[in-house]
Amino acid sequence: MNVADTERAVTRLRQAGYEIIGSAESADVVLLNTCSVRERAEHKVFTRLGEIKRDMGTSPPLIGVMGCVAQLEGERLFANAPSINLIIGTRATDRLPDLIDEARGGKRQVMDLGERNPNDDSGAISKNERHSPYVAFIPIIEGCNKFCTYCIVPYSRGREISRPASEIIGEILKLKKEGYKEVHLIGQNVNSYRPQGSEGMEGFSGVTPFSRLLRAVAATGMDRIKYTTSFPRDFHTDIVAAMEEHENLCNWIHLPVQSGSDRLLRGMRRGYSASDYLRRIEAVKKAKRRYALTSDIIVGFPGETEEDFAATISLVQACQYDSLYIFKYSERLRTPAAKLLDNVPEAEKTLRFRTLEKIQADIQIKLLADYYGRTLSVLVEGRSAKSEYDLTGHTTCHKVLNFPGPSDLLGQICSVTVSEIKAHSLYGHLEVAR
Ligand code: 5AD
Ligand code: SF4
Repeated sequence: MNVADTERAVTRLRQAGYEIIGSAESADVVLLNTCSVRERAEHKVFTRLGEIKRDMGTSPPLIGVMGCVAQLEGERLFANAPSINLIIGTRATDRLPDLIDEARGGKRQVMDLGERNPNDDSGAISKNERHSPYVAFIPIIEGCNKFCTYCIVPYSRGREISRPASEIIGEILKLKKEGYKEVHLIGQNVNSYRPQGSEGMEGFSGVTPFSRLLRAVAATGMDRIKYTTSFPRDFHTDIVAAMEEHENLCNWIHLPVQSGSDRLLRGMRRGYSASDYLRRIEAVKKAKRRYALTSDIIVGFPGETEEDFAATISLVQACQYDSLYIFKYSERLRTPAAKLLDNVPEAEKTLRFRTLEKIQADIQIKLLADYYGRTLSVLVEGRSAKSEYDLTGHTTCHKVLNFPGPSDLLGQICSVTVSEIKAHSLYGHLEVAR
């Protein structure tokens, strides 16, 4: 989401005549895009500000902070870091050029925490600046209405706003013409996708607007379509049905569970039990296609006992995730969980983190080993950072697969046979390029 926001900001700035340069030292304006989801992410902005101040020459740049930290901290940022000139909230990105103009005009402190302009499109302007020439992020819904007790996102990103399907489809058709091979439909909770009208989805069946959107997007003929993040309670079987129908809806599902303990799931206000979740996983495992499953877990939520943690371990063992993102609970001001006592000691959080990490590593290596000798479709996204001979890309099931090959395969979808298993990725050799 942050990458997509940066792309949006860069697009707006280029439209206004700005040039984007790679280093802060010689820039006139430095913008920091920020994340608040955990304390560590939030601290990065202050570290970075320090670095910029240290490295800047005699004519200091204008410094702006955008994203979630800007939205949540607002004016306090000016007080805590006097070098900041601009504070740009999460819904003010489209006004960036005007805000910079104000600051350049001499106003010492400029801040915009306002709502999105009503006549802006709701998700992303037709962007022409992207992080990759082959893979595009497409916001379909922004914000979140779930209010899980530990989570800051509903406060930093506001309520859910869905983009019209016609706009999404139009953007994907344009990307296809430009040679893009893969799109990621993104949102904090994509399953809640609920646009005002149904333009763009007419004639597509589906129990929920999200599954109708999936079918409509599949019909664009874009080679690969991925989406993230799903919310377990809203992950209806119809979504899997749509994926079974369309090969270009890729076989990867990210379905964060957070905990395997019913008591904690209630405390987190997730709205499902471990067995509700497992039923959804079973439906995926029973499907005809083989889907890679990934998830997020929080360890050390307030009051998490050994027993709660044991329940998480057994859920992880039952699900056999292809990969898992584990986070230590981080108290976020203003969230309901911040009122609970953050009583799992840091050392215990670390221990639980490492224990789970080890369990997952064993599961993962076993699952990856199963890919040995299989031929997978890989979108070649770049040259490997580790070896000058190797290319790198993702499979349809979102695994990293590297293989030796020439640069003219960049942006192509290749068939690669797996010949080596690494801890977090696969290695192989080229079969046939298409
Ligand atoms: N502490 C730790 N992890 C968190 N996440 C969200 N909020 C917190 C928090 N306060 C994790 C969740 C979510 C992922 C994006 O970040 O696991 O799915
Ligand atoms: Fe945060 Fe996700 Fe819960 Fe929304 S659904 S409150 S983004 S954890």
